[in-house]
Amino acid sequence: MQESFDVLASSGSYQVLIGEGLLEKVFSEYPDAFYIVDAKLKNILPENFKSCLFIEASEDNKTLEKMPNVILKMREAHLNRTSHLVAIGGGIIQDIATFVTSIYMRGIEWTYMPTTLLGMADSCIGGKSSINTLGYKNLIGNFYPPKSVSIDMRFIKTLDADQVIGGLFEAVKICYAKDNATFLAYLQDEPKFPLNASLAQRLLSRALKTKKWFIEIDEFDQNERLLLNFGHTFGHALEAGTDFAIAHGIAVGIGMVIAIEYAKQNNHLNQEGLGRAQMLSNHVRSMIAESLSELVANFPKLDLVQIVEKFDHDKKHQTNSYRMIIPKEGGALTIINQDKTEEVRQKITKAYQSGLNLVAYPHF
Ligand SMILES: NC(=O)c1ccc[n+]([C@@H]2O[C@H](COP(=O)([O-])OP(=O)(O)OC[C@H]3O[C@@H](n4cnc5c(N)ncnc54)[C@H](O)[C@@H]3O)[C@@H](O)[C@H]2O)c1
Ligand SMILES: [Zn+2]
Repeated sequence: MQESFDVLASSGSYQVLIGEGLLEKVFSEYPDAFYIVDAKLKNILPENFKSCLFIEASEDNKTLEKMPNVILKMREAHLNRTSHLVAIGGGIIQDIATFVTSIYMRGIEWTYMPTTLLGMADSCIGGKSSINTLGYKNLIGNFYPPKSVSIDMRFIKTLDADQVIGGLFEAVKICYAKDNATFLAYLQDEPKFPLNASLAQRLLSRALKTKKWFIEIDEFDQNERLLLNFGHTFGHALEAGTDFAIAHGIAVGIGMVIAIEYAKQNNHLNQEGLGRAQMLSNHVRSMIAESLSELVANFPKLDLVQIVEKFDHDKKHQTNSYRMIIPKEGGALTIINQDKTEEVRQKITKAYQSGLNLVAYPHF
């Protein structure tokens, strides 16, 4: 079964297709396009495919410094203003494709086929690119959505536990951020690892239609869409403090548990909010517990002092205050600013401690 919906953007609307057999559909629709494909997925292309660039999905390959190589290949393939580019891969391939299509001859049309669960559940809509430069991760970027997004369920089969569970944490984050009814409906679908195609399609459809609401109401990340950073500030410190050994989505999941601990410990929640936030925390914890043996290989030792230091330096804070997204009062997400004092730093450390204990993080 295939389903589709449109996303409205200031540059025009684009169609999102979810289902099976979509890879063949893209090949037949765009036989003359220039393809950028994750090198790991080489075998999905028919033999003697005409115009294709394979890129290894590494952070080094999505640096500004590497972009001229990609642009040169596009030029050598004689792409002009009316040419079409198809990108097939995860967030790294998406970031590269968004960036190069936005600037090549002042912009050419493109199609995106996400192949990681993070790409499918979250980043494939919204049009953002994040490019590394000068040693800084995701320092620069822009908004340049594709003309269409096709999500083929076949790619889920080869993803490991980190990637699937991490993608599901982004999905539940989106649903929780919207409202209680959407969150409860998501849980009722009983997300679990491993995912079969029909469950995956149900969960992805709900997450993306919910994300559509955020990006249509706030395309350029000024208000409501900012709430989708829930779990990210606490999570980024875990990623940065472990040289990105923890998968992004897993760090976001643990980050949500820590943010909830912060809200609980500092009395930001009323009875109703406590119940709602606890339900999310329990969900994340049970997903991790059920696959702990598969995830734990990528859980390196954490130094809590260093993690809080990384939190301190996160680029989302203001000069004199920490910016956090936490559930407040009845459980809805809210952005709070807390003065950068020793007292607040201690509260943050305490939230990390109990959050990491709750997910049974083995070594910190
Ligand atoms: N622009 C955005 O909106 C946005 C949002 C979130 C993350 N990102 C960026 O995306 C990147 C992370 O992306 P990601 O987690 O989607 O993955 P990725 O592109 O980093 O790929 C991760 C690994 O999975 C492999 N892979 C891809 N598809 C596969 C498949 N079907 N089966 C097996 N392996 C597969 C890749 O080769 C790679 O080894 C980061 O650089 C992050 O900054 C961008
Ligand atoms: Zn994320």
